[in-house]
Amino acid sequence: MDRRYAMVPGDGIGIDVTKEAVKVLEAASCAFGFGLTLEHFDYGAERYLETGETLPDGALAVWSGFDAIFMGAFGDPRVPDMKHAADILLGTRFKMDLYANVRPVRCLNERLCPLRNYAASDIDFVVFRENTEGAYAGMGGIFKKGTPDEIGIQEDVNTRKGVERIIRAAFAFAVASGRNKVTMSDKSNALRHAHDIWQRVFAEVAAEYPAIQSNHLYVDALTMQLIKDPRQFEVIVTCNMFGDIVTDLGAALQGGLGMAASGNLHPGKTSMFEPVHGSAPKYAGTDTANPFGAILTAGMMLEHTGLEEAARAIEAAVVACLEARECTADVSGSLGTRAATDAVVRRLLKAA
Ligand code: NAD
Ligand code: IPM
Ligand code: MN
Repeated sequence: MDRRYAMVPGDGIGIDVTKEAVKVLEAASCAFGFGLTLEHFDYGAERYLETGETLPDGALAVWSGFDAIFMGAFGDPRVPDMKHAADILLGTRFKMDLYANVRPVRCLNERLCPLRNYAASDIDFVVFRENTEGAYAGMGGIFKKGTPDEIGIQEDVNTRKGVERIIRAAFAFAVASGRNKVTMSDKSNALRHAHDIWQRVFAEVAAEYPAIQSNHLYVDALTMQLIKDPRQFEVIVTCNMFGDIVTDLGAALQGGLGMAASGNLHPGKTSMFEPVHGSAPKYAGTDTANPFGAILTAGMMLEHTGLEEAARAIEAAVVACLEARECTADVSGSLGTRAATDAVVRRLLKAA
């Protein structure tokens, strides 16, 4: 069956790595014989600065008709308030109700493991980040702006519905993927209102899964334990803001931001996939950005849309390239963005 994906490169190295993800998707479609239509959307800083438009009316409805959406990254020094990213990236997550931001943390090569006394295989867990509320909900405002008395308020919104569905998604994933443990992380010792609900809902849902071990760590302790012994984690579920922070730490455990992939999911709806890294404006257009995070993200998108074999082959090709040092400098290779992708494509075509 044909697949239709919306491709939204965004800004900076988002544009560079999306081009590479496209090459890999096209190669996968040749190698595994599925039809592929990629439609490009130029929403991002450039277009915003030219036209004032961020995410046009109706764009989300159009994307709902695709099998999935791929986004590069957003962020441009010329748009310091990130207005376009708020509308395009957060707008898509929120308005399409993509409540589960799923961020796998796996170290794919021994050389990339930054922890002494641990092997790459010790780093293998998946973060379920709540993706539609928390401190990101946008509730609040600035009072007396620009005066010595100004006040900035940003509410942390935690609904039972929102908390329950992400916790359920984490447990369901643990069962479906043969994992045995779910760790919930919050800051309920300090945030007595906002995070108490996480404690109660987690206990309720965990009780429905007696075969899955469950435990809790405050987020400060979690960051310490992730470095101290990553083997203790299989699935981590947490709120929007902590999920953002913990997955950059997770990226460091995988070999850097250039290696980290993610999906923004709502079962039954069109989902959105994006590498975890940002637009790294300094490196834009220099053929130095690591394309593997974006390529692995493209693999996640294929897997999510029923193309598991192609997804596995993409990951295997990336693993083989890392092993052969056919990769960019951040993962101790000497290739540029394009050549590293070409190496993946060659292996992918050979594997099929
Ligand atoms: P960043 O992820 O863009 O870059 C941080 C550093 O990580 C880079 O300087 C580089 O050393 C490394 N890095 C990131 N991606 C890499 C890659 N593919 N290959 C090699 N090295 C890579 O984060 P930042 O500098 O904090 O943010 C830059 C802009 O991106 C900001 O505007 C920020 O808001 C935005 N941002 C966007 C997203 C997104 O759209 N999903 C995510 C994070 C940050
Ligand atoms: C991410 C990014 C975004 C977030 C920014 C760009 C708003 O850091 O996807 O991890 O905080 O969610
Ligand atoms: Mn982030």
